[in-house]
Amino acid sequence: MSDEVLLRTEGLVAGYVPEVDILGGVDLELRAGEVVTIVGPNGAGKSTLLKAVFGLLKPRAGRIVLRGRDIAGGRTHDISRSGVSYVPQLSNVFPSLTVEENLDLGTLARRGSDASARAAAMYEMFPRLAERRRQPAGTMSGGERQMVAMARALMPAPEILLLDEPSAGLSPQFVDVIFEKVAEINGHGVTVLMVEQNARRALAMSARGYVLDLGRNRFEGPGRELLEDPRVAQLYLGGRGGG
Ligand SMILES: Nc1ncnc2c1ncn2[C@@H]1O[C@H](COP(=O)(O)OP(=O)(O)OP(=O)(O)O)[C@@H](O)[C@H]1O
Ligand SMILES: [Mg+2]
Repeated sequence: MSDEVLLRTEGLVAGYVPEVDILGGVDLELRAGEVVTIVGPNGAGKSTLLKAVFGLLKPRAGRIVLRGRDIAGGRTHDISRSGVSYVPQLSNVFPSLTVEENLDLGTLARRGSDASARAAAMYEMFPRLAERRRQPAGTMSGGERQMVAMARALMPAPEILLLDEPSAGLSPQFVDVIFEKVAEINGHGVTVLMVEQNARRALAMSARGYVLDLGRNRFEGPGRELLEDPRVAQLYLGGRGGG
């Protein structure tokens, strides 16, 4: 962990429909080596924030600074080549393609990267995918598909991984696996910015967290401190309770 800020948003404003701002000026910081979690109610703009960072939505105002360079309004392709990968909340695999083919697509943006060595590393990290490499991703369980999506995003060896609700809809057993994998990925030096509804669990493993509500920052701080903040627990974590 260092104090180097890899990614920062400043007063980020974005939306889909003219004159309706979903993000009303969001400030966020991601430092090298951190896991940072964004939590908040449905419709808060969490996914919108990740989409804007990845260039899928053009901000209306504010800055997105990646390693000191403003990338707001930049193209997804270029942002991806700058070392950022993104796993969307939904539809994050190509269902008719096999596991192997899904992974291959992960390196398209990065010519010259050693795809087969990366794939081998992914099969080592996700042994379940190795056994199923010829299986169409659409025939796999939700947890397995999430692994495919994460592996594909890791194929180009990103510095920053954006994860939108990686544990959503998974059985408790797979939720455990996914959180373990996030820790493992971070252990390999990848900086992680994730959105999670499984807020207690996610904040407990996060260096820092942000609570977003109605497109604005509400609370921020070290993951553990947010968990222990009674206002955060009451409003955003479903009342009091141990981590
Ligand atoms: N493509 C779109 N077109 C128009 N409005 C959209 C679009 N995507 C999202 N929105 C609206 O933007 C708001 C924020 O959505 P967003 O998906 O960012 O919320 P979220 O915090 O990720 O919620 P959830 O916890 O349900 O995933 C919602 O009111 C949603 O209806
Ligand atoms: Mg969302």
